[in-house]
Amino acid sequence: MSDPFLIGEAMTGGYGRGGPDILHDCTIAVDRGEIAVIVGPNGAGKSTAMKAVFGMLDLRQGQVRLDGQDITGLSPQERVRHGMGFVPQTNNIFTSMTVEENLEMGAFIRDDDISGTMEQVYELFPILRDKRLQAAGELSGGQRQQVAVGRALMTQPKVLMLDEPTAGVSPIVMDELFDRIIEVARTGLPVLMVEQNARQALEIADKGYVLVQGRNAHTGTGKELLADAEVRQSFLGG
Ligand SMILES: Nc1ncnc2c1ncn2[C@@H]1O[C@H](COP(=O)(O)OP(=O)(O)OP(=O)(O)O)[C@@H](O)[C@H]1O
Ligand SMILES: [Mg+2]
Repeated sequence: MSDPFLIGEAMTGGYGRGGPDILHDCTIAVDRGEIAVIVGPNGAGKSTAMKAVFGMLDLRQGQVRLDGQDITGLSPQERVRHGMGFVPQTNNIFTSMTVEENLEMGAFIRDDDISGTMEQVYELFPILRDKRLQAAGELSGGQRQQVAVGRALMTQPKVLMLDEPTAGVSPIVMDELFDRIIEVARTGLPVLMVEQNARQALEIADKGYVLVQGRNAHTGTGKELLADAEVRQSFLGG
């Protein structure tokens, strides 16, 4: 069996040197052409698992592999250079900078012409073109999330990791954001995302992970998890 494109495998670890383990033998992965979704209760360790895959945590056990290569020892910045695009749950834009400056900052590792990629981001999120000279902090919640995703796309990543891209937006804006994420995935970019809108996210997921207390509680296709009686009862409100 071949490796998924990106996998954090059997990860165990927590914050700092003496801190307690938050993740326990936790595995999350996404394959080429897929959307993989991580759901679970508040404090389950979803963000911690994403941070571990991105290299922001010292793992005590486990491995992170990207395209078959062991990258467990790499810094976040090195992982970006290897093709990881990450949108954290909080503080994911520079609020005092304009939309366009945010996109330019996103491309910090590039020294080639970024105008084509910026054009692609504006085609994906047309509202950002209209607002490109406005401070990102003045935008609505949904528009800020578009800036954050656009910023991550500016490195031309090979895999996109999103931590709660629809946090704090209305159901209509959530649907729109999901549509854009599906559009991005269809271009061939694998998407690994955490979502609190579990039902809607699993509907668009090729693969889903339910995390509880830092452990894998349920894993399956989005369809399988939506049909699973225990998952429905415990995590989807029946
Ligand atoms: N920087 C940190 N230092 C120490 N402990 C942390 C840190 N960030 C999170 N934790 C702890 O790790 C555990 C998991 O938190 P995490 O943020 O990963 O959960 P989550 O599933 O993303 O929750 P939410 O749905 O609220 O975003 C919690 O007990 C939290 O208190
Ligand atoms: Mg979180």
